[in-house]
Order: sequence, then structure tokens, then C-alpha cells
Amino acid sequence: MNIMDKMNDKLEGKNKPASSVLWAGRLAEKPEAEAFAFQASIGVDQRLAQDDIVGSRAHAAMLGRQGIIPAEIARTLDAELGRIAAELESGALLIDTRAEDIHSFIEGVLTERLGDAGRMVHAGRSRNDQVALDLRLYLKRTVPEIRAELAQTIGALLDQAEQHAETVMPGYTHLQRAQPVTLGHHLCAWSAGLVRDLGRFADALARLDESPLGAGALAGTGLPLDRNATAQALGFGGPTLNSMDSVADRDFAIELAGACAITQTHLSRFCEDVVIWASEEFKFIDLAEEWSTGSSIMPQKKNPDFAELIRGKAARSAGNVVTLLTLLKGLPYAYDKDLQEDKEALFDSLDTVRSCLRIFRGMMASAKFNIERMKAACTGGFLEATDAAEYLVRRGLPFRRAHEAAALIVRDCIEAGQRSIAERPLPELKKRSELFEDDIYQAITPAACVAARKLPGGPAPDEVRRQIKILRERILYTS
Ligand code: ARG
Repeated sequence: MNIMDKMNDKLEGKNKPASSVLWAGRLAEKPEAEAFAFQASIGVDQRLAQDDIVGSRAHAAMLGRQGIIPAEIARTLDAELGRIAAELESGALLIDTRAEDIHSFIEGVLTERLGDAGRMVHAGRSRNDQVALDLRLYLKRTVPEIRAELAQTIGALLDQAEQHAETVMPGYTHLQRAQPVTLGHHLCAWSAGLVRDLGRFADALARLDESPLGAGALAGTGLPLDRNATAQALGFGGPTLNSMDSVADRDFAIELAGACAITQTHLSRFCEDVVIWASEEFKFIDLAEEWSTGSSIMPQKKNPDFAELIRGKAARSAGNVVTLLTLLKGLPYAYDKDLQEDKEALFDSLDTVRSCLRIFRGMMASAKFNIERMKAACTGGFLEATDAAEYLVRRGLPFRRAHEAAALIVRDCIEAGQRSIAERPLPELKKRSELFEDDIYQAITPAACVAARKLPGGPAPDEVRRQIKILRERILYTS
């Protein structure tokens, strides 16, 4: 009996077979319970169980094909790993959270059931390349789910945009009324950002599509592994180029946490718009009752809590990016245990963006817009002033003069207590420029202002419809 068996037997004596440490050969003494729990990661990495098994199956099969372990043992390992996967799935096997990490747990179960055959699975492998592999496999299966949530969320916004291609509303700069736009235009602006997020997730996935399996602890192995074969079997584009890079870097985690944080920042800003629109002062949006909350004391309250919470959760997403950058910045190459901290931040970012996308989608798909309020808000605030100036430019006046004439008219209106240029009679307008004629009044209605802005990118209804079509196409080809 070798020392590892003795150690494991000793542990088994303590009724802890699944949590036998993998490094018991070197250290006869196990850290005390609190210290062991401190360095354990199973609480966080147990979600990698299925990925760990997928990786181990590919590794074991390759070991068999390469003659590193007997072919029959490779088959036995594969079958048992398949059983463990199914049992974990059905709940017949529970993860022992006293284990150090998910890799130790699964190898422990395998060894408990198969004895020496189980002890063969780790040949040519380290937990360093194993965890790097598991994480990439996990991301390859879950990031597409987040992309699908994103695509559906953009779809829901574009459905609303379609309904409101003609709904005029004020566009704002500095949160001051600026120029009339359409609600469809505003919703397309949000969607354009989310479409780029879709691309960011795809880019990150493409870059992480290399298998680190076979990198070992940092320097590969002298055993004749076939890294190309495992990379292919696991659905990667190929193996990673450098074994140290494979176990040391987590740039892909930073990149994905970054994609999450940017998406979350987008959602946060959209939610800020929603919160403002839901106020009594604006009253542009009426959130469904299911997507609102009340107050425990003020009977009248209908609060946009969901929007606020999505905005709030953007803080943790930004924090996770900083966590990962800081985690990596001082680490000597190659693997350091610090890297174990990567998963909590990354998983939190992925979970957060997934739930926020779902909640934001439900909230926006069921929201009703107050078309009349939006239209009314286009009058008062002189949103038509730019269009009045452009009217003069069309009649040959230099823009700077036209700007000045329109500005003076705005001042005249304010002094006369008029809320819009339309309230000012033609003779008064002519005092500021002889070029004004009767047709000025129809040129400065909110609908006319919006219709005139039909350049690519503009808020005119037909142009908004074109943007919606293109955004829908982009969802398809970045998917
Ligand atoms: N739980 C570890 C992690 O997440 C696995 C790798 C452990 N490797 C080591 N040399 N201690 O990073």
C-alpha cells in the first residue's frame, strides 16, 4: 500500500472518502478544518461538475488511445464518468461539499468506485489545466444562453419600436428638451448598443475557443498525450499554443466580465430613462402592475423597483471587472492559487446579466407608453427652434445668422409668454427674418420636425423602420 492509499484510508477512517485530498502523498498532515475550508472552492466551482466530467472523459479516452492506460480501463473510466454525470443530474449522487474542489470530488468518487482504474485518470494532467479547461467548457455552453437572452431582449425592444415608429416624443440632451424624436428612434438607440453587446460576447467566445488540456501544471507532460485529439473531441478550434499561458491567464474571464459589465451599464442607463419616464412629472411610461412594486407605508405608490434594481446591479458587474483585473495584475507566471478567486466574480457577472436581461425584457414588453403625454411634451421648451433655423437655411440664410434669428424669436416668445414659435404671428417672425412665410407653421409641428430628419440614423418613421429591420438582421448574423 503506497502512502497515498494510506492517507486516503486514514481519511476514509474519518468517513470522508469523497473529500480525500489529491495531494495527501506529500503532506501527512491535513490543514485544520477551518483552514481547509478556507482554501476549498467547491462551494463556487461545483457548477463546473458536468464540464469537469466531459473533460475527464475526453482525457481518459485519449489516454487509452495513446496506450498511456489500457484501453479497457479507458472504457471503464468513460462508463463510470458517464454514470456519475447522470447521477449528479438526477440527484442520485450529491456533491460532497467537504471536498476541496469539484475536481477532487469527481476523481474521489471515481477512485472510490473503481480503485486503481480511477487513480489512472489524472495521468498527464494537473488541476491547473483541468480548471482552465472546465471554465472554458462552461463558458462555451452558457455564454450562448446569455446571447440568446440578449437577442430576445433586443427583439422585445424592437417590437415596441415598431409599434411606436411614429410616436413623437422629446429627445433630450442634458436632460433638457432638445429636439423631437420618435419613441421608436429612442428604442432603436438602446437596441443598437445591445446588438454590439451581442457581438462582444461572440468575440470573447471566439478568442477563448482553445483547449488548455495537456498544459499540465504549467510545463506540459512527458507522456505522449494527443492535445489535438482532446481539443477536437471537446469542440475547440484547437489546443492552446503555450502551456504556461494556458494555466496562468484569465484574460478571457476579464473579457467576458467586461462584456457583462458593458451590457449591464447599457441596461442601467435604459432603466434610468424608465425611472424618469415613470415619474409623475414625466408620465411617459406606464409599467405593468406585475412589473412594479408598492410601498409599505404610502398607499398611492407604484414604484419602478425592477428598473432601479437593474441599475443598482450594474455596480456589482463593474466591481467584478475590477476584481478580475486586480486579481491578475500582480501574479507571477504561471499558476497561483489566487486564480481560484476568478470564478466567483465571473459567475456573478454572468448570473447577474442573465437575470437582468430577463427582468428588463418582461418589464419593457409589458410596458404601455403614454402617447399623448409624449406628444404634448414636444410643445413648450422650443424643441422646434433648430427646425425654424433650418427653415431659414433652406431659404439661403447662413446657418449662424439663422441660429441667431431663431434664438431671438425664442427670447421674444418667452417675453410674450408664448410657449412655442407657432404661437408667434408671422409679422413678428418677419421682424427677425424676412424669409419667414406662412409655411413655417407646418414646418415646425413635432411630426414635421421628425419627418424632416430622414437621413440614415434619424428619427423619421420610415427611417426608424429601416433601422429596426437592420437591427433584426444584425441579431441574426451575430448569432
Ligand atoms: N480549485 C482550483 C482553482 O480553481 C483548482 C486548481 C488547483 N490547483 C492547485 N495547484 N492548487 O484554481
